[in-house]
Amino acid sequence: MSNRVAIIGAGPCGLAQLRAFQSAKEAGADIPEVVCYEAQSEWGGLWNYSWRTGTDEAGFPNHGSMYRYLWSNGPKEGLEFADYSFEEHFGKQIASYPPREVLFDYIQGRVKKAGVRDWIRFNNRVRDVRETADGKFEVTARDTVADAETREIYDHVVVANGHFSTPNVPYYPGFESFKGRVLHAHDFRDALEFEGQDLLILGTSYSAEDIGSQCWKYDAKSITVAHRTAPMGYDWPDNWQEVPALVKVDGNTAHFKDGTTKEVDAVILCTGYKHHFPFMPDELRLRTPNVLASDDLYKGVAYVANPNVFYLGMQDQWFTFNMFDAQAWWARDVMMGRIAVPDEAARAADVEARKAGEAAIEDDYGCIDYQGDYTQELINETDYPSFDVKGACQAFYKWKKHKKADIMTFRNNAYQSVITGTMAPMHHTPWKDALDDSMKEYLKN
Ligand SMILES: Cc1cc2nc3c(=O)[nH]c(=O)nc-3n(C[C@H](O)[C@H](O)[C@H](O)COP(=O)(O)OP(=O)(O)OC[C@H]3O[C@@H](n4cnc5c(N)ncnc54)[C@H](O)[C@@H]3O)c2cc1C
Ligand SMILES: NC(=O)c1ccc[n+]([C@@H]2O[C@H](COP(=O)([O-])OP(=O)(O)OC[C@H]3O[C@@H](n4cnc5c(N)ncnc54)[C@H](OP(=O)(O)O)[C@@H]3O)[C@@H](O)[C@H]2O)c1
Repeated sequence: MSNRVAIIGAGPCGLAQLRAFQSAKEAGADIPEVVCYEAQSEWGGLWNYSWRTGTDEAGFPNHGSMYRYLWSNGPKEGLEFADYSFEEHFGKQIASYPPREVLFDYIQGRVKKAGVRDWIRFNNRVRDVRETADGKFEVTARDTVADAETREIYDHVVVANGHFSTPNVPYYPGFESFKGRVLHAHDFRDALEFEGQDLLILGTSYSAEDIGSQCWKYDAKSITVAHRTAPMGYDWPDNWQEVPALVKVDGNTAHFKDGTTKEVDAVILCTGYKHHFPFMPDELRLRTPNVLASDDLYKGVAYVANPNVFYLGMQDQWFTFNMFDAQAWWARDVMMGRIAVPDEAARAADVEARKAGEAAIEDDYGCIDYQGDYTQELINETDYPSFDVKGACQAFYKWKKHKKADIMTFRNNAYQSVITGTMAPMHHTPWKDALDDSMKEYLKN
């Protein structure tokens, strides 16, 4: 059995890893010494939003891509922890699309109960991870408050720094002389900044849909979304249009592939993120696009070339918190010698089989099932409390249909918990009219 584990990041994935070890300890197991490095002064990852999001006190780029007024983009019934229900946390069932502050509170509730805060070194940014001659790992971190560097040796490293923080920023001709803001979704903070403006959004995924919807809700004059592959195709409000790919901007005029133009005040690049691990050496660094079957990860978690290194939550995400849990419990059991990892050829074959499985998926419903099956596969190998994963898939199916029916009202729907079996209440106010996203307001059901 190993004796020291380093976790990099105390977002939902890193916290899942802490809770996994603590639950084994609670059950009487002899667990390794666990040290979690967190660059920020608080836990919760990108759910830990504050006005400081951007650049931190120490001058480092602060991690978050979070923004004000964000509400969950999927039903909470798809992400509920199997070992800590929303009802346990809030003392009652709550509506299905919680705003950021409510989800942040829920995430914190479980780890406060577990008592793992002392395992985290806050304000500690990992700078470097090196494999030592005897197959261990030297982790170098900077304590930005003490202004001091530490170097310590570990048997295992769990990388949990998220992958929606380093923006993918494409260039289009004319950006350099555009008379307004050109920003990436990573730097979007507050829809009110764009009140009364004509906005151009690039991209057709969740950031484009949600940032556009936020700006619409908070009274932007118009939203124009340019797609390079296909339009989102929802039944948008009257002041929202979808247009072909952007070709260039000239002054404030945006030119699209079909020859049409639009005068715009700001351009928001909702063009996705890059997996970025500046602290990992080449031989241990994950290189993968944002897909369901990541490259280089056996069981989607253990690094093929060195299975003493684990990466959590690196897949494109339909399932989130409960999938992170399944991965963390599985990684814990490998680190504690409860699960055996096969040889490198078998690990690489596992990755190829998962990629072939993903390539055969036909639609979004297939993606949901694929990731549900993956989550179930890991749960089956550990003592993570079993739950109705197929039921969670059903919640996602309904969510997709509600979006198709009306993209501006889908958050008004309620779903059944697969953990406690109770039905969520309808929220007291339709999403588009709920301008106060505070926890106090949301919980007034
Ligand atoms: C804008 C946005 C909205 C989202 N909305 C939803 C949603 O509604 N529902 C949902 O389920 N999911 C949503 N997601 C998906 C999101 O990926 C997960 O919910 C979750 O936050 C991922 O957790 P994580 O721990 O992997 O990463 P993160 O939450 O990104 O946390 C990573 C942590 O690692 C720390 N860190 C980074 N580098 C270092 C270092 N070198 N040393 C030490 N610490 C470091 C960071 O400070 C951070 O605390 C959203 C993502 C984005 C970008
Ligand atoms: N409310 C919420 O909960 C919320 C809000 C925002 C984000 N999120 C989360 O954040 C994560 C990331 O989502 P995301 O939308 O930022 O990224 P994403 O899902 O990776 O999508 C990236 C988009 O950028 C487009 N794109 C990439 N390069 C481009 C280029 N050069 N020119 C034009 N378009 C380009 C892609 O288009 P193609 O299809 O053509 O490749 C795609 O539409 C998701 O997990 C999501 O759930 C959640």
